Amino acid sequence: MTQVLEIDRLKKGFSLHHLDKDIPAFEDVSFSVAAGEFVLLKGANGAGKSTLLRTLYRSYLPLAGEIRFHSSHGVIDLARAADVDVAHLRRTEIGFVTQFLTARPRVRAEAIVAEPLRLAGWEPEAALDAARKALATFGVKPDLWAAYPTTFSGGEQQKVNLARALILPQKLLMLDEPTASLDANARRALVARLKELKDQGTAMIGVFHHPDDVMHLIDRIVDLTPDAVPQEERDDVAL
Ligand SMILES: Nc1ncnc2c1ncn2[C@@H]1O[C@H](COP(=O)(O)OP(=O)(O)O)[C@@H](O)[C@H]1O
Ligand SMILES: [Mg+2]
Repeated sequence: MTQVLEIDRLKKGFSLHHLDKDIPAFEDVSFSVAAGEFVLLKGANGAGKSTLLRTLYRSYLPLAGEIRFHSSHGVIDLARAADVDVAHLRRTEIGFVTQFLTARPRVRAEAIVAEPLRLAGWEPEAALDAARKALATFGVKPDLWAAYPTTFSGGEQQKVNLARALILPQKLLMLDEPTASLDANARRALVARLKELKDQGTAMIGVFHHPDDVMHLIDRIVDLTPDAVPQEERDDVAL
């Protein structure tokens, strides 16, 4: 199996200087993800799921541990990589999708979705065509394709967000409760797209509000509840 990510004794917490207090988020987290594997993160509110995903995406620096990412340029420890290298990997190999679209004023929905393709060197018309197809897949009505998502409903914004985040297959994809504001059709479209990406070899780590949606895609469950068994193999878990 081709490894994509090896997480080794990772630890993160926050210092609240004004309260002179340290809040632990998680510690001693170790697991790995191979190409085409899907890892479900679970744990109660505040268990550190979002913090772990953000640390893997290097929005946060960990306090200890290693995050060995097998990039197309070789193995790089994301816990220590330079910001410029992290920025490059985010454009090319590592994706992240949350429940929120950061809609920019006066950028059309189709342009937001086409942007990753444009950055990857696609011609403008081909990128727009693919963007419109992706918007249609997630159930965004054609009238809205050339409109500005700043005025869209939460659910519509999330569909644009997903269309953009999932338009290009990436080596590693993190998902933080992407279905929270979606209707049933969009949830089905998302799950179908995740299945395609998995079959193409994308390694995925995700937190899901409705894990039943993705149970058939899951290879492993990592539980961040303190004192939980560190890894549960799918065979051992009642799904
Ligand atoms: N930026 C931050 N500053 C301080 N504390 C934070 C920050 N982000 C998260 N925390 C704390 O870290 C813990 C884990 O939070 P989080 O990762 O959001 O949990 P989950 O996603 O599992 O609900 C919580 O106690 C939360 O209050
Ligand atoms: Mg969270």
